[in-house]
Formats: sequence, C-alpha cells, structure tokens
Amino acid sequence: MKVLLAVLKQIHKPALCTGNPRCLSSGATSGLLPFRDEAPMVGSRPELVQKLSSQVEVRTDFITEEEEAAFLRELDPGLKKKRYEFDHWDDAIHGYRETERLTWGAACEEILNRVRSTAFPEGSQLLGPVHVIDLDKTGYIKPHIDSVKFCGSTIAGLSLLSDSIMRLVKEDTPSEWLDLLLSRRSLYILRDQARYQFTHEILKDEESVFNGQRVPRQRRISVICRNLPG
Ligand code: OGA
Ligand code: MN
Repeated sequence: MKVLLAVLKQIHKPALCTGNPRCLSSGATSGLLPFRDEAPMVGSRPELVQKLSSQVEVRTDFITEEEEAAFLRELDPGLKKKRYEFDHWDDAIHGYRETERLTWGAACEEILNRVRSTAFPEGSQLLGPVHVIDLDKTGYIKPHIDSVKFCGSTIAGLSLLSDSIMRLVKEDTPSEWLDLLLSRRSLYILRDQARYQFTHEILKDEESVFNGQRVPRQRRISVICRNLPG
C-alpha cells in the first residue's frame, strides 16, 4: 500500500486559465476536435490528437458485463470494509478507497492476462500487485503524473461501473490537452510521452462533459496494471 501512495504523491497544482479546458464553460465546445467519428478522444488540436494516438488508447467494451461482475464479486467485499477517504486535502485523490491485489481468482486472472498482453510488450517486468481504486460518485482524481520511481512507461486501466472522463494536460504547456471518454468496461492505455509529459486526472461529476456532452459519473472502480521502470 505504501508504494501505491507514493505512486500518487506528485500532485500538480491546477494550471492557470490560459486555454486550459477546465476553464471552458459548459457548451463552449469550439476547441474540441474529434479525431475520428468514433474515437473517444478529443483534444486542443487535431495534430496533438494525431500525435498522441499511438501513445493513448481507449478500447471500448474491452470486458463483458459478466467479466465486470466477476471483478465486482472479487473486489466488493474487501472494498466495502473500508471507508471512502474525503478529508485529506493534499491527497491526489478525493473520495476514494483503494486496495492492491497480487493474486486473483481464475476469471479475473484471465482478464488481467488479456490486459497485460494488450498493453505491455512481451517479457515486460510488471509491477506485481494490481492497483484498485474505488471512487465514490462524488470522488475524483486530481492532475498528477505517476511516480517515475515506482512505475515504468506504461499504465493500463479498466474502468468498471461508470463512464468517466480522463483529461491529459501537457505539464509545461497547459493549452495542450486531450480528453478521453472512458466508457464503463473500457480499457485505457497511456504510454511514453502521454504518461511522462502529460498530467492525467479523472473529472468530478460536475465537470464530466465530453465534447459538449454530459457524462454522468457514478461510483467507479478502476483496475490498474503498471510496468516497472526500465
Ligand atoms: C492513478 C490513476 C486513474 C484511474 O491511480 O494513478 O491515475 O483510472 N488512476 O483510476
Ligand atoms: Mn495516475
């Protein structure tokens, strides 16, 4: 657990309001440019979306409803014993409980192996425990970059129970940003520059608007696999 807390300790202060997407009023969508009709990704410039498309993937419906239920059966009893944390103002995450798990039942292990073979090159050294974050409906994850000390070049996460929006903002150029629609049961993968040079965050319910469309946030569980630093 200590490692996972360390993973998140690099909190980034909200960027100033110069072309930053969080400063768009709802409905002000003129800066949002879809990459492809179906791509659940919009950004500040089409060139940026294009450039990052090899480093940011969202696979819609990566798992089935039955597979989502298998994770719930395995995770919910343990999670329910914990309280959601709301009061640590300096935490990178607000309104959450978390756990990590090294060994899984057969059904979940099979799904996780599919995640691993999709996201990581064969033979990659992975972080042993899988990280699980349970965000309350009112919970959110503030902009941060995962610790380079503990995590390698690739982060892969399954989203359970709720759609959500992940926002990437270039650390040294906050006008450069990308929003990903993480639909329920999708898999996202962040690699290389998208992982090292952009902060990522999960928007709170009130801000959860994708390309002008409201995306209500419910309780959301993420199951995250990472590799080790090279
Ligand atoms: C993290 C993180 C995103 C998610 O734990 O570092 O960014 O999908 N999580 O929960
Ligand atoms: Mn992170």
